[in-house]
Amino acid sequence: MSGTRDLYDASAGKWSRQEQLLLSDFTARPRVLQAVGDVSGRHVWDLGCGEGFVGRQLAQGNPDRVDGFDLSTEMVHLARQQAGSLAAEAGGPLHYLAADLSDAAQLPSGSCDIAVAVFLFNYLTIEAMERILSRVREALQPGGIFVFTVPHPSLAFLRRAEPPFYIEPDQHTYLGGSDAMFKGKIWRRDGVSNEIRSVHKTLADYFQALRNTGWERLPELEELGVTDDHLAVDPEFFSPLIGIPLHILFRLSV
Ligand SMILES: C[S@@+](CC[C@H](N)C(=O)[O-])C[C@H]1O[C@@H](n2cnc3c(N)ncnc32)[C@H](O)[C@@H]1O
Repeated sequence: MSGTRDLYDASAGKWSRQEQLLLSDFTARPRVLQAVGDVSGRHVWDLGCGEGFVGRQLAQGNPDRVDGFDLSTEMVHLARQQAGSLAAEAGGPLHYLAADLSDAAQLPSGSCDIAVAVFLFNYLTIEAMERILSRVREALQPGGIFVFTVPHPSLAFLRRAEPPFYIEPDQHTYLGGSDAMFKGKIWRRDGVSNEIRSVHKTLADYFQALRNTGWERLPELEELGVTDDHLAVDPEFFSPLIGIPLHILFRLSV
């Protein structure tokens, strides 16, 4: 896990942003917020919160409290800094904690109403993801929801190593690569790239993990990619990805 921590400690500054900048700020995060819906008065867990981009957006919906957890102390530092007057110490809803979520016991023992994990599970093995799935299911209040996104499991096998987003499977195959860590890159619209990692899971791995951890209802699933709205904003940036599945979003309810 120290490799991931080092990666994000070193690149935290390039993740830090106040407005949509990364490809996935357009292609994934707005859909996450839509899937989450009304957060007013709710207690939210933001798992793998990074430098707090999603948390700050959630805070605009007047939640009671958002608890963000992340492995990288640099990311947590930036999240606290950028939360400004919305930070816990200013009496606001945003609270951040450095925590390695490959150990689900790092999460608080209490409950929450909503949980999100925006590109966390691509850093966890199937076993570690299952521990978080179990803990979140146990923590959610009746009517609670859990929204998570990951890179689309097929993406690595569909694109060459080119901007604005790729994942390299190296010698691994789609069906034989579960739990192997693939390297990739995602670009910002200003041309800066960020390295990412993706611990490969097939689509069936996700569904098996949900079954193993007691999520009984069928998840709502979205395969996310570039839309006409994105192309209207920046055709040059988005057009290499037309028709490619980039991310998967799961919306689970208890
Ligand atoms: C691609 S970034 C996404 C950050 C944020 N969710 C967002 O949407 O902007 C992935 C984040 O997951 C965090 N992460 C990776 N492994 C983790 C672990 N074992 N425990 C907690 N956080 C982890 C990284 O430090 C990084 O901040």
